[in-house]
Amino acid sequence: MTFTELCKRVRKHIGQEHRYEHCVRVARMAENLARVHGADPEKARDAGMLHDLARLYSNERLLAECEQRGMTISDFERAHPIVLHAPLSAELARSEFGVTDPEVLSAIAKHTLAAGEMSVLDCVLYLADGLEPGRDYPERAPLAEMAGRDLPGAMRATIESSLRYLSSKHLPLAPQTAAAMRVFGAHTTTEATTARHS
Ligand SMILES: [Fe+2]
Ligand SMILES: [Fe+2]
Repeated sequence: MTFTELCKRVRKHIGQEHRYEHCVRVARMAENLARVHGADPEKARDAGMLHDLARLYSNERLLAECEQRGMTISDFERAHPIVLHAPLSAELARSEFGVTDPEVLSAIAKHTLAAGEMSVLDCVLYLADGLEPGRDYPERAPLAEMAGRDLPGAMRATIESSLRYLSSKHLPLAPQTAAAMRVFGAHTTTEATTARHS
């Protein structure tokens, strides 16, 4: 399947222009970051296009589809089903779009909460998702600039930014994000934290 064909299929699957356009911007930014940081640009582009396949599913559908597919659902995920869109999107990329590359599937699965073990490609997609130019918050531009030159530094700062945002919403810390904080040396002054839900 060519990338153009992939885009058409993703656009149809998602069924909403706003979300599809986010995927286009994430794919473009991930491809560029991959070039800079020595990951495979095509894998980054494909992961960016596919990362939010399940983002518009209801909580009920996320839980039901993960259960039908035999996926493990943690207590945190059961309490906050929106975060399941990341592993479910990876599963849909595999089963519905024929993606077999484990690096691409890993990046999709980790794009929301991050993880204690992250490849360069995983980091590239996490950053592209959070820092693509369509997102509108004051820290975005300096973080995006940092992502283009310092991958671990941008991971640390971006995780800290999402922690600040979510602590303001009184959301709890996901275990995967806590593990990523330790790996990248991210700090927060409050425990009321989790990652972006997008
Ligand atoms: Fe997402
Ligand atoms: Fe996204």
